[in-house]
Amino acid sequence: MTAPAEITFTQTDLDALAAAEGVIACIVPPAGALGVEARRLNRLTKGAVKRAVESPAWEKLSEGDVLELGFPAGLAASTVAIVRLDKRAPLARAMAGGAALAKLRGGRELLILGAAHRRLTDVVLGAVLRGYDFADHKTPKDGDKTPAAAPVTVMVTDADAAEYAFADARAAAEGVFLTRDLVNAPANVLTTTAFATRLEALRDLGVEVEVLEEAELKKLGMRTLLAVGQGSESPSKVVVMRWNGGGDEKPFALIGKGVVFDTGGISLKPAAGMEDMTMDMGGAGTVAGVMHTLAARKARANVVGLVGLVENMPDGRATRPGDVVKSMKGDTVEVINTDAEGRLVLCDVMWYAQDRFAPTGMIDLATLTGAIIIGLGHENAGVFANDDKLADAFLKAARATGEGAWRMPLGEAYDKQLKSRVADMKNVGGRPAGSITAAQFLQRFVRDDTPWIHLDIAGVASVSKGTDLSPAGATGWGVRALDRFIRDGYETKDDG
Ligand code: BES
Ligand code: MN
Ligand code: ZN
Repeated sequence: MTAPAEITFTQTDLDALAAAEGVIACIVPPAGALGVEARRLNRLTKGAVKRAVESPAWEKLSEGDVLELGFPAGLAASTVAIVRLDKRAPLARAMAGGAALAKLRGGRELLILGAAHRRLTDVVLGAVLRGYDFADHKTPKDGDKTPAAAPVTVMVTDADAAEYAFADARAAAEGVFLTRDLVNAPANVLTTTAFATRLEALRDLGVEVEVLEEAELKKLGMRTLLAVGQGSESPSKVVVMRWNGGGDEKPFALIGKGVVFDTGGISLKPAAGMEDMTMDMGGAGTVAGVMHTLAARKARANVVGLVGLVENMPDGRATRPGDVVKSMKGDTVEVINTDAEGRLVLCDVMWYAQDRFAPTGMIDLATLTGAIIIGLGHENAGVFANDDKLADAFLKAARATGEGAWRMPLGEAYDKQLKSRVADMKNVGGRPAGSITAAQFLQRFVRDDTPWIHLDIAGVASVSKGTDLSPAGATGWGVRALDRFIRDGYETKDDG
């Protein structure tokens, strides 16, 4: 697993600055007033810091941008980085400031002079998240250092308090890194079996993990899920992860689409860009990251995560267009297009989750439709819900963590597009409103009394250009928002 950078919080020691190597970062508000740390740096560099923040270059910066002083006289460090950031800066700018530090330091040590800055946790989290580097399959060259390898030290006025404040952010960063590692992993490495094994490792954190194999899934009647995986050499699996940190109340359920590779099946996808479908397990990867985070920070909540792990391949045994398959619920589905496979996986897992756990609410995550990318691009996930309160709670959490999410409609008129001549429904609704008809399909497997959200993360789970907080590839979108959502709505409060 890619480990987040080691972060050490220490008491501010001004006498240690001259000898610190790598990058020294200080945070300066837009008006340019220097705190004691920056003043010491200024003295050591014979006034360079002051000149920098009084220069036109400083005025051109936006909040969260960084001004770099190279090879400063008077210091062992190779760079002084001045982060322009007010103590009341919005979260996204604070995280961007940290992210900028992660980008500029490369493999060098980083010393952040944090004092008691109100946004310090966000700055450090930004640095950690942007420091991610997926190097599992790169042969290291001599002297190569991954960004995470060099230590990060944060000097503060109260190290214990800062360490405590950062603990939950660290758990979230670990969860995000787990999600990114899973989503970035190639499909020949992350088979359904390998995926299940990675999830079993969550037991080390106290998560109960159960792997349901094909024989069991057959007995349960998960035929639509099995229909997707039957063309693959990799066995289909459902993995159930339970974190019981709350009392004895019913759990909240998170369900993830885990198509380890989506060729489209017999309705084969075109060759160009098919390699991207290695990320089609993004929903399952996100559920794994959230479970990790909840366990790592010992959340006082009961959450069950279920993922359907399958591979969608063309084969002599693969499901054909026109096949009719009966779901675990009992409804029959005419498979018009074997490339609309995610919904066939999810509908059985969602039904099973409600059947077995009677959850207080349920959120499914899936890289479900290309259409959501046309609608919302890579900035927002699509949010479909049968319950306004639940949707609002999630949107609020996503706003708080800076992860884009946008409500989309559901409605009976869309549902009609799923009418089949031969079965209870077909698995596609035609080109218009492709993301909505996919959500309508799922809603048929949601009990009326289950508050439910469907998150279509096809546009946000993985991106071809780096974002503020992640390099190109998997983003880990949603891990922090869902962690926040659970914290705000489902956790028994601290009694201390
Ligand atoms: N996994 C894809 C959706 C997808 C597309 C994710 C692009 C990420 C990027 C899904 O299984 C799929 O193939 N959907 C089809 C549905 C269609 C056949 C109704 C699509 O979106 O084209
Ligand atoms: Mn598909
Ligand atoms: Zn798919």
